Amino acid sequence: MSQSNLEQKTVTYRCPSNIALVKYWGKKEGGVQLPANPSISWTLNDLFAETTVIASPKKGENSQIEFFLDGKSKPSFEPKIHTFLQRISSIVPAATQWDLRIESSNNFPHGAGIASSAAGFGALALCIVDLEGILETGTPEFYQKVSVCARLGSGSACRSMFEGAGVWGEISSIPGSSDEYAVAFPFNLSEKLTHWKDAVLIVDDGEKTVSSTQGHDLLKSHAYAQARFGQAHKNLTELSQVLQEGNVSRFIELVESEALQLHAMMMSSIPYYMLIRPNTLAIIELIWKKRKETNWEMAFTLDAGANVHLLYNSKQEADVMNFINAELLPYCKNQLYLCSAMGGGPTKIN
Ligand code: DP6
Repeated sequence: MSQSNLEQKTVTYRCPSNIALVKYWGKKEGGVQLPANPSISWTLNDLFAETTVIASPKKGENSQIEFFLDGKSKPSFEPKIHTFLQRISSIVPAATQWDLRIESSNNFPHGAGIASSAAGFGALALCIVDLEGILETGTPEFYQKVSVCARLGSGSACRSMFEGAGVWGEISSIPGSSDEYAVAFPFNLSEKLTHWKDAVLIVDDGEKTVSSTQGHDLLKSHAYAQARFGQAHKNLTELSQVLQEGNVSRFIELVESEALQLHAMMMSSIPYYMLIRPNTLAIIELIWKKRKETNWEMAFTLDAGANVHLLYNSKQEADVMNFINAELLPYCKNQLYLCSAMGGGPTKIN
């Protein structure tokens, strides 16, 4: 066996995606991937990325990266991974000392329009920090370092490291919160908001016309940016109370208002753009109508796209599923929706 074979290491992690309740939208100037406002999200245990990294000591001057998605070589992803490795090299110096073969897959259909960067960079960061071998896997220090690295790949990825809700961005009402990494929501969640689920209604599965990274950039010169950042602080402080107290009606109001503010910021930036589609609106209106008729505990939220996340209390699962199948499915692309429980952290597969 050659020397390089002896030193080759392989690791596999599964990392969940997450859905923000208070949205990260805008980056601080003068830092790398620091959020302009704090955000909070729930992990989506059943929508995850699984990544295997095979690391061997680099043979040439520069690291060689090979990236495979669902078994297919994707050279177009490699520049983004090089940038990521460069960014984390001050924290994980070994990151640029290896040749890497990265094999990744998502358990949700590729091209379903679901942001996969959070789960994808989360899983990659877990593998790299594990391969470095300095911190004991699974300890709080390990996850903190992974969260810093994941953030440098994609901001929202840093919140995928916790069993339940994760908070990213410094805010006085959340002890320990930081712009550099996410922390687990430090308070007990009310029973009333613990067993919720997410049905992601796929409205559009195409490429977004404006990426999240471009969207964040437009906040730099946005007329309402400061007001929005202030609002996010206020909403997160209140949502923290609401989650502890189990105030479901206010939870619904805050979550829906956050989703609409996110898209209102897109529509009022220069250049302005719109990612919601007619079917997004049709679904939102049907959710509002149904809630008025039934009082079911459910709320919609949106990420930076046309798909609708229908968050609901699992005690109403049967009713909500009937509602989706009977009334919302006609508005879903290819009649597709994906379900996930809320919560669940990353797992080391081997
Ligand atoms: C709308 O994390 O995808 O989903 O940091 O540039 O990679 P980059 O952006 P990204 O932004 C996600 C924004 C959002 C809201 C959120 O998840 O908080």
